[in-house]
Amino acid sequence: MEKKIYHIYAEEYKNLSELTEIDQKLVNAAREASEKAYAPYSKFNVGAAVLLANGEIIRGNNQENADFTDGLCAERVALFFAHATYPDVAVTALAVTAKNKGRLLKGPTQPCGSCRQVLVETESRYKQQIRLILDGAEKIMVLNGADSLLPFAFKPDSLD
Ligand code: THU
Repeated sequence: MEKKIYHIYAEEYKNLSELTEIDQKLVNAAREASEKAYAPYSKFNVGAAVLLANGEIIRGNNQENADFTDGLCAERVALFFAHATYPDVAVTALAVTAKNKGRLLKGPTQPCGSCRQVLVETESRYKQQIRLILDGAEKIMVLNGADSLLPFAFKPDSLD
């Protein structure tokens, strides 16, 4: 038996202005997208912005349904739209933000487990890590890749 400790590297920022220009742009795009969320049931408006290797920014937001289980998260709306539109272009970064009844979360906004799994698949698909910017009014977290959010994930080679 061996005991192991696995480390997660994360950067934490107090203000949006401390982030790089492109990451600020991405967070602002996610915040804008959250304004267009369809979240009449939860009043939890989530916005996501995906940066592609071609420079394009794709926005997404949560889409709810009277049958609660049929909605979809902002991150997956953005990622799937990006893949559907540019199947051959890698995803390089994703920003996510959320407002609860109109108030920006203290942060960092944490993607749900299913979105983490989809992020892992996207990294496998394009063979590169996705920088993750988890927005918040008091704390913004930047991670190098989905492994930090979902270690020991089920990946394509888990099928071997
Ligand atoms: N939601 C997201 O859009 N992304 C997440 O990562 C977590 C949750 C949405 C789903 C639902 O519309 C609302 O937030 C409340 O759970």
